Amino acid sequence: MTTGYLTGFGSHFETEAVSGALPKGRNSPQRPAYGLYAEQLSGSSFTSQRHENRRSWLYRMRPTADHRPFTAYDGAPLLAPGTAKEPLAPNRLRWDPCDLPEGKDFVDGLVTMLANRDPADLEGVAVHVYRATRSMENRVLVDADGEMLIIPQLGGLRIASELGRLEVPPGTIAVIPRGVKFRVEVDGDSRGYVAENHGMPLRLPDLGPIGANGLANPRDFETPVAWFEDKDEPTEVIQKSLGSLWTTTLDHSPLDVVAWHGNYAPYRYDLSRFNVIGSISFDHPDPSIFTVLTSPSDVPGRANADFVIFPPRWMVGEDTFRPPWFHRNVMSEAMGLIYGAYDAKADGFQPGGLSLHNLMSGHGPDVESWRKASEAELKPVKIDGTMAFMVETCWPYRPTHYALDRAQPDYDLAWNGFPKAQLP
Ligand SMILES: [Fe+2]
Repeated sequence: MTTGYLTGFGSHFETEAVSGALPKGRNSPQRPAYGLYAEQLSGSSFTSQRHENRRSWLYRMRPTADHRPFTAYDGAPLLAPGTAKEPLAPNRLRWDPCDLPEGKDFVDGLVTMLANRDPADLEGVAVHVYRATRSMENRVLVDADGEMLIIPQLGGLRIASELGRLEVPPGTIAVIPRGVKFRVEVDGDSRGYVAENHGMPLRLPDLGPIGANGLANPRDFETPVAWFEDKDEPTEVIQKSLGSLWTTTLDHSPLDVVAWHGNYAPYRYDLSRFNVIGSISFDHPDPSIFTVLTSPSDVPGRANADFVIFPPRWMVGEDTFRPPWFHRNVMSEAMGLIYGAYDAKADGFQPGGLSLHNLMSGHGPDVESWRKASEAELKPVKIDGTMAFMVETCWPYRPTHYALDRAQPDYDLAWNGFPKAQLP
């Protein structure tokens, strides 16, 4: 796949795949070039404040409005089935990596593990696992319920979207905005995670006293240049809408946007570009210091969803317990592992696995990790070859029945056997 990228986060881009397709000086001329249709795609209300306003103008071969009625789609029964409604014990939960079923593509292999809120609330986040062994063919997915943050763990993805094409190997993430159609192509076994954000679009966190640089830098975000396919073949559109899946078939590919401009578009980000910041004296900061992207809620400072990573980094703190400490908090944490080992767990948390520490559940290092870190000689150490992540949210998660049925039975034992403190 030949791809080109435009750099910047939330910038107003303009790009055309055919010279002269992009109108100059106006958004919707009476007769766009080549008989293209001008269509505005808005990811925010028209009247959002300027810094919140997200929209792009698309110049396409046929308008999106040209489709027949949607009917129910039953090919992805594990995607968005609703969560378990019975009382949820405040236990910590962990899962092994999902298996890779034969013959499933990105859509049909999606499994919802955790979710909170109703997509119609325009708040909350769901955590899915995708498993794909073949490419989507003559079909696209569009999510009206939220933007999809895609986190490959096994195998790279090629994503062809209405606004261009992205290559997304493991170690890289992609964000597909709400309402953008896309197709996922794979080379063999592929697995990873999707955080589906129903709330305010993800953005870079404020930096406060950190200053103008650091964490994820805007120049490292890449948005594809315009690309289209002129394909008059039956193409299925699967739409996720209000928590259900729907299908209709067009007589053409809807990936037919020849030119576009605006600030509402897919992007990718290489997690190795993250500028990791931490303590150079003692203790270590709260994990919010590792926030890549955040979706705010209506309460200042309380995230609807934070995407946080735990990348390779130097540990130099003196007289400090260096792994993540024991804690309980009001936020709820879903964690995944892309590669390597996470420094607070000796075993049981595999790449492709998942864990849930819901609000106020006590967690932290397991006994072995605690002992090792307590007894270690504190010279500078580099944690290397690892990339874990967290989707932290202010709304407590509920697992699906599928997830509850497959949770590791003995995760609580990770914290079994701590010696009692010895008072004088
Ligand atoms: Fe935590």
